[in-house]
Amino acid sequence: MAARIHNFNPGPAVLPLSVLEEAREALVDFKGTGMSITEISHRSAVFEEVLNDAIARLGRLVNLPDNFKVLFLQGGASTQFFMVPMNLIPEGRSADYINTGTWSTKAIKEIDILKKPYKVIASSEDRDFCYIPKEFRVSPDAAYLHFTSNNTIKGTQWSRFPDAGNVPLVSDMSSDMLCRPFDPGPFGLMYAGAQKNLGPAGVTLVIIREDMLERVPKSLPTMLRYTTHAEQNSLYNTPPCINIYIVQLVFKWLEETIGGLEAMERINMEKADLLYGFIDSNDFYRGTADKDSRSMMNVTFRLPKEDLEKQFVAEAQKSGLGGLKGHRSVGGCRASLYNAVGLDDVQSLVDFMKEFAQKNG
Ligand SMILES: Cc1ncc(COP(=O)(O)O)c(C=O)c1O
Repeated sequence: MAARIHNFNPGPAVLPLSVLEEAREALVDFKGTGMSITEISHRSAVFEEVLNDAIARLGRLVNLPDNFKVLFLQGGASTQFFMVPMNLIPEGRSADYINTGTWSTKAIKEIDILKKPYKVIASSEDRDFCYIPKEFRVSPDAAYLHFTSNNTIKGTQWSRFPDAGNVPLVSDMSSDMLCRPFDPGPFGLMYAGAQKNLGPAGVTLVIIREDMLERVPKSLPTMLRYTTHAEQNSLYNTPPCINIYIVQLVFKWLEETIGGLEAMERINMEKADLLYGFIDSNDFYRGTADKDSRSMMNVTFRLPKEDLEKQFVAEAQKSGLGGLKGHRSVGGCRASLYNAVGLDDVQSLVDFMKEFAQKNG
């Protein structure tokens, strides 16, 4: 049995051990081909089977209607920050954005660079992004409404997605994709860098509604057009085959071991309740997000003093609990509880936190 720590990294993050073990075999000899998954052609039947199985599994996991296409792209979620406005804002239209933290701010920065028309219809910047805005009015003629479903750095999450009427939703779901069931119906596009809930960094999942493809300007460079990738089943150029393979294994784990997204949500809620419940039960630890905006995936908290936070992170690491340092831009502590983090990992963290508070409180 491999020696593994309790891994609370924000991303790249922990993956299910069974997935890693299966991938280890495939790294040398993929399904008896005598070749590694990294050595076979992306145009071979064996790889196309991997790709199509990943797409089919995702479709079943999120009950994806037939009019959506699943794409595997490169360049991370950060590339989607500019691909979305380049592809989806028709001439003469404007897009709405909601700013809930660092990643939304970066998405807005890209549309600004492109000089495309947009409007920030709500922001939680006034209180350092510690909440999800509740009051906003979506422009009825907006090309789309962009929001970040989970704010990895600030530890907030939309518990219910914004209602934009007929305006298609576009969401950066990098840090909570597949953590719970959701209705893809109101979405024009969803995207997620894989390195939290889905697999290794280097592949980006994009789910796009077919009618959105009609907006894509032919004047864009080939690789930057969603139509290119949709028409070629993500095989226009060489895709990151091993990453897609690991994503396929993660989807299989979600379907067959966990039992789907309802079951995943129950586990995620149990994990988050355990940790937030403990944080709220004492005065030593303090959660940084408003209670009604708290993220199930990234639990951000402070200790009474910065020195104690440093000591906490270092002692936790020594005790086999890794990745608890808050993002460098905000400080404090953060425990990321992605899908592959077990309830036992969270229990070990809570036990450690109790002991640390007793010794240092
Ligand atoms: C919500 C969110 N969006 C975007 C990104 C950036 O993703 P990438 O590194 O894949 O570009 C991250 C990375 O942590 C994130 O958490």
